Amino acid sequence: MIVLSTAEGNRLARRLADALDAELAPVEEDRFPDGEQIVRVPPELEGTAILVHSMVPPQDENLVKGLIALDAARENGADRVIAVIPYVAYSRQDRRFEPGEPVSFRAVARAISANADAFVTVDLHEPRTLEFFDVPAENVTAAEEIGRYLRERFEGEELAVIAPDEGARELAERVASVCDAEHDHLEKERISGEEVRIHPKELDVEGRTVVLVDDMIDTGGTMIEAARALREQGAGELYAACTHALLTRNAASRLLAAGFRDIIATDTVPTPYERVSAASPVAEALRRLTG
Ligand code: R5P
Repeated sequence: MIVLSTAEGNRLARRLADALDAELAPVEEDRFPDGEQIVRVPPELEGTAILVHSMVPPQDENLVKGLIALDAARENGADRVIAVIPYVAYSRQDRRFEPGEPVSFRAVARAISANADAFVTVDLHEPRTLEFFDVPAENVTAAEEIGRYLRERFEGEELAVIAPDEGARELAERVASVCDAEHDHLEKERISGEEVRIHPKELDVEGRTVVLVDDMIDTGGTMIEAARALREQGAGELYAACTHALLTRNAASRLLAAGFRDIIATDTVPTPYERVSAASPVAEALRRLTG
């Protein structure tokens, strides 16, 4: 078994290779004069090749890189190619929101399925979209790892773990159960035609340290709006935690300027805010798929 890592596979690939006692090899990356990408893997592969590649921004470039790297693994002797794509691009366009739009994630899932024998990801935006894959597909969660980190970092504090919306409620609940915290999600209450109040559904956060938990932080807009609402409820220190820290449009600075004490993220996306590794649940999924 060999673990192939692109630059975006980063430290997660190293940790997976260690956990699986497998060889680690980089995917070499280059460009043709016209800008098209070319990748190279070790030319005499055998057995199972695991490609670790995160489809972070620029997504289109990384989507193509992932697909051609999978093809390279197959073309160079791997009997079986497993795509570990901890963050998959286009996962939020998981249905047709407006007439004329595509289900982009289904197109991405089909392209991955055509080039890999199995697929593993982490905290997929909408877990039911695993059904878009035509090969065995697993979605693992980093909730336990995030929860353990919070338990150690905030030992002795009465934390509140809050999801900024209902979509993240289950993730927040799982994180909270590991760090023995209370949890809730924010909901929008329409007060009048013009006025909307955002507040925790049930919890009183006054004076409490709050960790907001979401599957991803992209521009930071969701977290910043949630922070504003929590401050109005009298919350104490605020922390932003997520699995995938995309942090586009200077999101990190904007989050810190908005009063977040720290950003807590995993290694599914290369980021200086990586505090937690998703390697353990991904390695377990790989053992199930290869065992
Ligand atoms: C949306 O449903 C997701 O779970 C995230 O809340 C969202 O994508 C975060 O994006 P942003 O940071 O740009 O608000």
